[in-house]
Amino acid sequence: MRKFRSLFLLLLIALTFTGCAVNGNTSNTAVPDSGPASTKEPRDNAGVEGYPSFDLAKKTVTLNSGYEMPVLGLGMFSLSDSQAENSTYWALKAGFRLIDTARIYGNEEAVGRGLRRAIEEGIVKRGDVFITTKMWTSDFDNGDAAVDASLSRLGVEYIDLMILHHSQPRNDVAAYQAMERAVDAGKLRSIGLSNYYEPDDFDRLVNATTIRPALLQNETHPYHQSGEMKEHIAKYGTVLESWFPLGGRGNTQTLFNDPAISAIAASHGKSAAQVIIRWHLQAGNICIPGSSNEQHIIEDYDVWDFELSEDEMARMTALEKDERFADY
Ligand SMILES: NC(=O)c1ccc[n+]([C@@H]2O[C@H](COP(=O)([O-])OP(=O)(O)OC[C@H]3O[C@@H](n4cnc5c(N)ncnc54)[C@H](OP(=O)(O)O)[C@@H]3O)[C@@H](O)[C@H]2O)c1
Repeated sequence: MRKFRSLFLLLLIALTFTGCAVNGNTSNTAVPDSGPASTKEPRDNAGVEGYPSFDLAKKTVTLNSGYEMPVLGLGMFSLSDSQAENSTYWALKAGFRLIDTARIYGNEEAVGRGLRRAIEEGIVKRGDVFITTKMWTSDFDNGDAAVDASLSRLGVEYIDLMILHHSQPRNDVAAYQAMERAVDAGKLRSIGLSNYYEPDDFDRLVNATTIRPALLQNETHPYHQSGEMKEHIAKYGTVLESWFPLGGRGNTQTLFNDPAISAIAASHGKSAAQVIIRWHLQAGNICIPGSSNEQHIIEDYDVWDFELSEDEMARMTALEKDERFADY
């Protein structure tokens, strides 16, 4: 009896070990490693080079992912739920087709409600609207779940663009790889980055992953024009998107009262905000001003009937001070 029991125990141990090995292999294939670039197959956008050109007549740019993206959108940073819902709805009514939100803004659900309101009223169809959201740093170790959670909060079947909110060398490659899996699964259409301010840091991420970032969203405005990063990302066909395009809440008057900007605005009979937005678009920066005010939203979209001359663009470029308003 004792012999029989020993044999049974041996068999159990063998089975347990075999099971562990199988489980170990399975989980290794399900969660790809984050090893060096040499172990990775490049994806289909690896050959795309050069800074994407804007079609201001169509108000869009074609990303290196192949998808078209509106070049002017509305941002949701620091908006309450009711503000975000109304601003999304007002924006779509005013003509905007791009909305920029983030998990950390806490208003993805409200954006989804504003979008559904506009769809129910026949203002837009889901396919007309480009939704961007961002994966927050504390979710980087659980990227697959973070994608699903954003999809569910927004109430959409796919997200047009998801970007990592900040560089975080400890685990941003793993988070980006989760977004790559979500692209393969049809949950995300394009993926990109935000708050990568050093070319080397951008390359670190690109070299460890397989889909080139479609977009880089960094603080960018006339006092911080992001020239170096823009030149750098052009080699991957990545486009720049400006956050704090008007300087950010609390700083806008600094830019609005800049003598060069007010003079250009006066000569076109436009507001300083409109001139700054127009400068972003003509400079090739996707622009996402934030607003909770319907009149401002209408004004921010009314930038298609005038053009800054070469001389005016040069005067705006001359305002570069390498000065950021935020400290992150
Ligand atoms: N990736 C990141 O880390 C990051 C960081 C910050 C922001 N962002 C994104 O970028 C978006 C834009 O940034 P932001 O909203 O912080 O700053 P912003 O767009 O530079 O400035 C927003 C400020 O501009 C005012 N404004 C907008 N249109 C105006 C107009 N026509 N006339 C006068 N004032 C006007 C708004 O006030 P009213 O509400 O009164 O109109 C608000 O005070 C954000 O909403 C967010 O989506 C991303």
